[in-house]
Amino acid sequence: MSSTIAQALIEKTKNFSIEETLAFLANEYQNKVVFSTSFGQEDQVITALIASKDLPIAIFTLDTGRLFQETYDVFHKTIKKYKIEIKTHFPEAASVEDLLNKKGPNSFYESVGNRKECCFIRKVAPLSKALNGNEIWITGLRAEQSENRNDLPFFEYDAHFNIIKFNPLLKWTLEEVQSYIEDNNVPQNALHKQGFVSIGCAPCTRAILPGEDIRAGRWWWESSHKECGLHQK
Ligand code: ADX
Ligand code: SF4
Repeated sequence: MSSTIAQALIEKTKNFSIEETLAFLANEYQNKVVFSTSFGQEDQVITALIASKDLPIAIFTLDTGRLFQETYDVFHKTIKKYKIEIKTHFPEAASVEDLLNKKGPNSFYESVGNRKECCFIRKVAPLSKALNGNEIWITGLRAEQSENRNDLPFFEYDAHFNIIKFNPLLKWTLEEVQSYIEDNNVPQNALHKQGFVSIGCAPCTRAILPGEDIRAGRWWWESSHKECGLHQK
């Protein structure tokens, strides 16, 4: 049923610009459209698009408690520049305490299972709460980011979170994202200038070398699919 809606949305918006699609969704799904930002370059473009048109789309972030100071810096700059509210969702304190008491603060380096446990507590569970009651979830996923993401559609039903996901920048290249940021003076994470591309938690993200895969700096010690459970791809 919901995949039929996703398909209908693809059809309905196929000739719309991104701004038109965002405005259409904001109107059609009033108070039920949310955008999740991790303040990455893609997310900053989407925030700028939403803010420049003053669209009634709620923006939230998942503060895992392990983010870079540079991420908080761009968070702060963004809310000041656009005069917008970005709602913060924290992990449940008792779950984080329990994890650290049982396994210590760096258990994620020890196994993929431990890493996914930490991601679940710090990201996935808070995301479920943040999405609860909404109908459209906007993300900054791009097809080019990884092989997994290559075949994503603009709209898809996410059965895991029971919501329709919209990926407006799906077809943008990294160069297009960066040009938009430069041309529109959009605040960005200072780490991008130091070789960081995809940025998550501080202990789990490193800079990449020229020619390395965009997501090579995420959970770099693993040879897994490098997903944390927010996205199945
Ligand atoms: S992840 O699954 O590997 O962490 P990635 O960093 O590529 O995801 O980001 C893809 C999209 O997921 C972002 O554009 C954003 O919509 C969402 N996202 C990722 N991390 C967060 C976060 N900490 N808070 C809010 N949204 C996030
Ligand atoms: Fe934990 Fe690392 Fe996942 Fe962040 S990215 S939630 S620190 S395992």
